[in-house]
Amino acid sequence: MASQLDIQPDCSLRALNTFGIDAKAAHYLEVSDVGQLHAVYLDPSLRAMPRLIIGGGSNLLLTKDFPGLVLHIATLGMAVTGEDEQHVFVAAKAGENWHRFVQWTLAQGFPGLENLSLIPGSVGASPIQNIGAYGSELADYFHACDLFDLRTGEIQSLTKQDCRFAYRDSVFKHELRDCAVIINVTFALPKRWQANLRYSELANELSTRGIHAPTASDISQAVIAIRTRKLPDPAKIGNAGSFFKNPVVTAEQRDALLAQYPSLVSYPQANGGFKLAAGWLIEHCGWRGKTIGAAGIHSQHALVLVNHGGASGADLLRVANQVRDDVLMKFGVVLEAEPLIV
Ligand code: EPU
Repeated sequence: MASQLDIQPDCSLRALNTFGIDAKAAHYLEVSDVGQLHAVYLDPSLRAMPRLIIGGGSNLLLTKDFPGLVLHIATLGMAVTGEDEQHVFVAAKAGENWHRFVQWTLAQGFPGLENLSLIPGSVGASPIQNIGAYGSELADYFHACDLFDLRTGEIQSLTKQDCRFAYRDSVFKHELRDCAVIINVTFALPKRWQANLRYSELANELSTRGIHAPTASDISQAVIAIRTRKLPDPAKIGNAGSFFKNPVVTAEQRDALLAQYPSLVSYPQANGGFKLAAGWLIEHCGWRGKTIGAAGIHSQHALVLVNHGGASGADLLRVANQVRDDVLMKFGVVLEAEPLIV
């Protein structure tokens, strides 16, 4: 069966991860058709190998060569699939670029995803960490997805509930890790759209532009402008967006920190705890703009680990570990990495 698949040995993954790490896959397959996944399932040696599933590679830190099979999901296609009284349903295959998909929905006249403009990565990866930005997250619009289960060779459909979405988390990071390949995602976009301007920086950007009743396209443009200003373009500086999650602490911990550091940035949570801005914590440990060799922390945003060119995954991980240790030492807060570290 393997002979029917165009599996490349010793393949560089450099172009397939936004950190630009030159790690190698022992075996590599670009998946442009679900039939290829079925062929992998039917091949006992391929099925037994350690597996890494890559979409846009924008949430991945490769620290060494990968000894098994890397599947790069490259299936394409977007369509309007139906409607009900309140929603229009739009679907995309997993390999579609996320931002291209968002722009396509807006061009079709279906608003909803505009706050999530310019997030790097693919549609298939978007549910894994429940991507979110500027007051909106994927779970707000996710309807269902289909996945190929490499343990059973079957296609399953998951509802929003099945996915157990939480802050940068889902079932795909737990039970379904490395065994489920998301093959398409359907979104439910509201027919009665309302601008989401909860995030004050976005509201400010629009009012600076003199826009008081923004369209979805105005919001998308504003989000693109903010992201371009603050976050490095992975095509120019290797990075994976926020490297750490914003940690959630108890009200007591937050009050104690606030008493000591009055400029601490925190947000109340539904459970009574507080989310702390990890970027603030890292900046206040002196890390913003600091580099060790080619690995470092971005000068415009302390939550972003960057490869200035030629850093290895191990170099980047060393910086990340030092940042985490410094934040723990100074603030007593544990930072958890957001990307998958392999
Ligand atoms: N801040 C600092 N110093 C910094 C960076 C930030 O003090 O160097 C402070 C800012 O002053 C601000 C606060 O931290 O008050 C929050 O910063 P920002 O608005 O940039 O958002 P964030 O919490 O750092 C999160 C997401 C981003 C998302 C933005 C906007 C996480 C881990 N990150 O960042 O998502 O774009 O909000 O909604 O939740 C990603 O996940 O890769 C990502 C980029």
